[in-house]
Amino acid sequence: MSTPALEARQLRKHWPQSGQVLDGCTVRVERRTVHALIGASGSGKSTLLRCLGLLERPDAGSILFEGVTAADGPVVSNDPRVRRCVGMVFQEPNLFPHLTALGNVWLAPHRVLGLDPGEARERARMTLDRVHALHLADRRPDELSGGERQRVAIARALAMEPTVLLCDEPTSALDPMLTREVMAVLRELALDAGTNMVVVTHDMDFVAAAADSVDFLHAGRIRVSGSTDVLGTRGLDAELDRFLQRS
Ligand SMILES: Nc1ncnc2c1ncn2[C@@H]1O[C@H](COP(=O)(O)OP(=O)(O)OP(=O)(O)O)[C@@H](O)[C@H]1O
Ligand SMILES: [Mg+2]
Repeated sequence: MSTPALEARQLRKHWPQSGQVLDGCTVRVERRTVHALIGASGSGKSTLLRCLGLLERPDAGSILFEGVTAADGPVVSNDPRVRRCVGMVFQEPNLFPHLTALGNVWLAPHRVLGLDPGEARERARMTLDRVHALHLADRRPDELSGGERQRVAIARALAMEPTVLLCDEPTSALDPMLTREVMAVLRELALDAGTNMVVVTHDMDFVAAAADSVDFLHAGRIRVSGSTDVLGTRGLDAELDRFLQRS
């Protein structure tokens, strides 16, 4: 078997106020695949994703990107090359309000990767084009719809060319029409561009249409893991059955 894009082994995370939030989570994301994380509110999805994004230190367990260790227990790599393996997209786009869409996408390739201004601009334009937002390049965030803002946020993460793009409920702040617009872009990135992706979502249609594999979390444990076919199967796990019935 080839080295996966991302592998997390036996991640554990405890919060003093909340107890054991991740209780030994193992996640494997193969290359050129979309992996969905599903589960009820409070099950630990965001905590797991933030650990995978190196924004949170696990108490124990390890995280590897393409076979390279990024976290070994609470020791998280400071190597910028390792940290740049992950890009994150959150529920709220949090774009810089004073910069245009192009400026938002241009900034990190220029400042962090050190591309010269012209090169960074070309990369930003290409990346905006990938999310069908090139025509919005000169607009500031307050001149964009919620869905457009989120597409620019996806472009901003993609412009750093991460090994894995992690998205935490990227459409939950959007109305149904804008949700479709953003999900269509993610689906296209996944299917056409082969972007490695982990998406936390409640959108089971997206999971069925675009994800290759899925983990179902319940109370900090991955109870069911496998291809998305598991979502069509009843009787594997009582909690999963209950969850699917409610979604
Ligand atoms: N910084 C924190 N400090 C203490 N407890 C936390 C912290 N972050 C999350 N938790 C707790 O960890 C548990 C899991 O939270 P998490 O945000 O990972 O859930 P989730 O599955 O993403 O839920 P949702 O679907 O509502 O976003 C919850 O009980 C939450 O209260
Ligand atoms: Mg969450």
